[in-house]
Amino acid sequence: MSSRLSPIDTAKFVAAKRACDFVEDGMRVGLGTGSTAAWLVRCLGEMVTEDGLRITGVPTSARTAELARRVGIKVVSLDEAKWLDVTIDGADEFDGELNLIKGGGGALLQEKIVATASDKMVVIADQTKQVQCLGAFPLPLEVVPFGWRTTKALVEETLAALDVLGDHGTLRQMGDAPYVTDEGNYILDLHLKRIGDARQLALVINQIPGVVENGLFIDICDIVVIGHGDGRVEVKDVNTGVTREDRIEFMENDNLFRDLGD
Ligand code: 5RP
Repeated sequence: MSSRLSPIDTAKFVAAKRACDFVEDGMRVGLGTGSTAAWLVRCLGEMVTEDGLRITGVPTSARTAELARRVGIKVVSLDEAKWLDVTIDGADEFDGELNLIKGGGGALLQEKIVATASDKMVVIADQTKQVQCLGAFPLPLEVVPFGWRTTKALVEETLAALDVLGDHGTLRQMGDAPYVTDEGNYILDLHLKRIGDARQLALVINQIPGVVENGLFIDICDIVVIGHGDGRVEVKDVNTGVTREDRIEFMENDNLFRDLGD
């Protein structure tokens, strides 16, 4: 085991590495966004260039598309691929039923579309993402820029009637300007602290005009691969109820661990 990676990066890396087991030759693979998903893209890139794995990748953001191309993965759009064998992505939180909060990286809309268009969604995460109840991580909501203040007020009014502990939203910023998604929308981060009924919230909040999509992934994820800082990985399958645990041994080599600036 290498000592150069921090425990959190080790956890992300081993989760990503183990998740590669779900990818087979010829598959169409949804590629997630974020620091954990970036490890996955690197690992798959290595399998493509070193082992001759043939896959077609559908990225969930412009930045994942760029990284995938750089590491040698063939990239197509979702419409070109039509349907995917598997999508592998990170998450900000997951609960015991493998419901998720996603969108910390601002890519929730493409991520949800791509994951939903897949036979299987595998989440890769370090152990800190596991929660009893969703909501400590602010729930991202993608909204159209037009009238976003009005949309925010309507969202907060709606939240006040739902089973949550907070109802306050903040516009995500990038420096001095609003953060803009790949689709040209804004993100409201909802500080809910605890989401009592995630399914209800996900349905109700999407009815508000101006809301494009929310970061709750309900009944979408099939498997979570949880990485630990000591190299252990747990693979939890929500459909079978089975959890398996093993350990990934690895040596940092120049190719996989080189600085790609992602
Ligand atoms: C991006 C996401 C990411 O998957 C989520 O934010 C987790 O990111 P990281 O792996 O960097 O912790 O939803 O929109």
